[in-house]
Amino acid sequence: MEKVIAIFGSPRKEGNSDILLNEFIRGITKSDIKIESVVVRDLQIAPCNSCGGCWESGICVIDDDMQKIYPLLVEADGIVISSPIYFMGVPAQLKAFIDRCQSFWAKKYILNLPIREGARISNGFFIATAARDKGVDLFSGAVKTVKAFFHVLDTKYTGDMLCSGLEGKTDAADKQALLKQAYNEGKSFGI
Ligand SMILES: Cc1cc2nc3c(=O)[nH]c(=O)nc-3n(C[C@H](O)[C@H](O)[C@H](O)COP(=O)(O)O)c2cc1C
Repeated sequence: MEKVIAIFGSPRKEGNSDILLNEFIRGITKSDIKIESVVVRDLQIAPCNSCGGCWESGICVIDDDMQKIYPLLVEADGIVISSPIYFMGVPAQLKAFIDRCQSFWAKKYILNLPIREGARISNGFFIATAARDKGVDLFSGAVKTVKAFFHVLDTKYTGDMLCSGLEGKTDAADKQALLKQAYNEGKSFGI
């Protein structure tokens, strides 16, 4: 069975990023796909402190909730992340999650070991939400971060939804076109 990991990256429960990711998930209708939700705000994840432990083994030595996430990332056939824009980047909680994947970087580039058996490539999609309206470069910082994260995980950046003008907590729920787009992106998320 194919597996998609859905990473809820907003510190705010049931806000815009959650709403759009839930629509995306609803769009993944193929019954032979297992969806595993990872809600970053509910996890205890210490930031990477550059201890160098992963350079020895490719495994992060910090014993916290990230340890149960690593196998999910390796097994995933698809990864979708939703995140609000905070100061032109991703929130600290999600950034800590991403930084802790430095152990995959060490595994690949220091130890020359594969992330997955058979050099399998997974597919990735990014949903970002921001309060400001169009006309400002709101998303390039977060997109670069997510692209780097996907790259380390041998995950192809297949597309994104970069949604501006979402100030209020549930603004996305009133935007039918956005909801439909999220649903359709989920539906066509090829894995
Ligand atoms: C700490 C913080 C920083 C933010 N920085 C930005 C920003 O740089 N640009 C922007 O357009 N919106 C910014 N926002 C607004 C959120 O990105 C926006 O409201 C988003 O829709 C929230 O998504 P959520 O409901 O999923 O948390 C910021 C919000 C917070 C709390």
